Amino acid sequence: MTEVIRSAAALRDRVAAWKRSGMLVGVVPTMGALHDGHLSLARAARGQSDRVIVTIFVNPMQFNNPEDLKKYPRTEAHDLALLEAEKVDVLFAPGPDEVYPEGFATKVSVAGVSAPMEGAFRPGHFDGVATVVTKLFGMTQAGRAFFGEKDWQQVQVVTRLVRDLNIPIRIIPCPTIREEDGLAMSSRNVRLTAAERKVAPALHATMQAAAEAIRGGAEPGVELAEARAAILAAGFSSVEYLDLRDAATLETVQTLGRPARMLVAAVLGEVRLIDNIAV
Ligand code: PAF
Repeated sequence: MTEVIRSAAALRDRVAAWKRSGMLVGVVPTMGALHDGHLSLARAARGQSDRVIVTIFVNPMQFNNPEDLKKYPRTEAHDLALLEAEKVDVLFAPGPDEVYPEGFATKVSVAGVSAPMEGAFRPGHFDGVATVVTKLFGMTQAGRAFFGEKDWQQVQVVTRLVRDLNIPIRIIPCPTIREEDGLAMSSRNVRLTAAERKVAPALHATMQAAAEAIRGGAEPGVELAEARAAILAAGFSSVEYLDLRDAATLETVQTLGRPARMLVAAVLGEVRLIDNIAV
């Protein structure tokens, strides 16, 4: 039975009791509209913690586009049923006033890894993520936090954040879960039309082909330019970025030699899709 908790005070009591019994608490921060990607995080948490908290909070502070916030799917009753099936102990689903009470005045900002790509195209996004994640870590007092690699840049931001602020939590990145045709699972995929859904896997397929060519010695700049053109030709209306970056620092990589990641954001219909793969 998954217990639904909405207040930080009630959560603190529950977690304190677990910790008195020496239990390790794992947390999976989400914004709900759960899919198999989230459930894989809950399973990883289940396997590596004694008690599991999944948080659902659609964080207004990380949406730079009010339309996107309005349209973000909210499916709490269905989410709860999925979490029950995964034997999650607590669903922490606070309201906006619990997270950002009257007078809230603090912003957490991570320089460097937050700046390019998502940071450049969604100004303020990572300040919102860093602030809410810091709050969720404080409210849950968890020892481990599980994040999907689909949001690769987010994982680097959160990893930097906990190091810099000495937050006693281990960040566990978990692999991206994909549909059979390669499309990375995302809560936003439900907003694709049937025709767009058929086009969407071209994003991952194109990146894979480019990554393979680069691994085989092709010039990254040329491959990225060709891949960008192929994504547009497939039916995407724009490619915001398609970059080859150092996997940890997210600095631009010109030639391979250290672990690198190819990252993309592209718009299909009304939906902005992001993805990344190792190169
Ligand atoms: O990845 C997400 O769903 C969100 O950015 C997170 C980490 C739950 C913070 O709101």
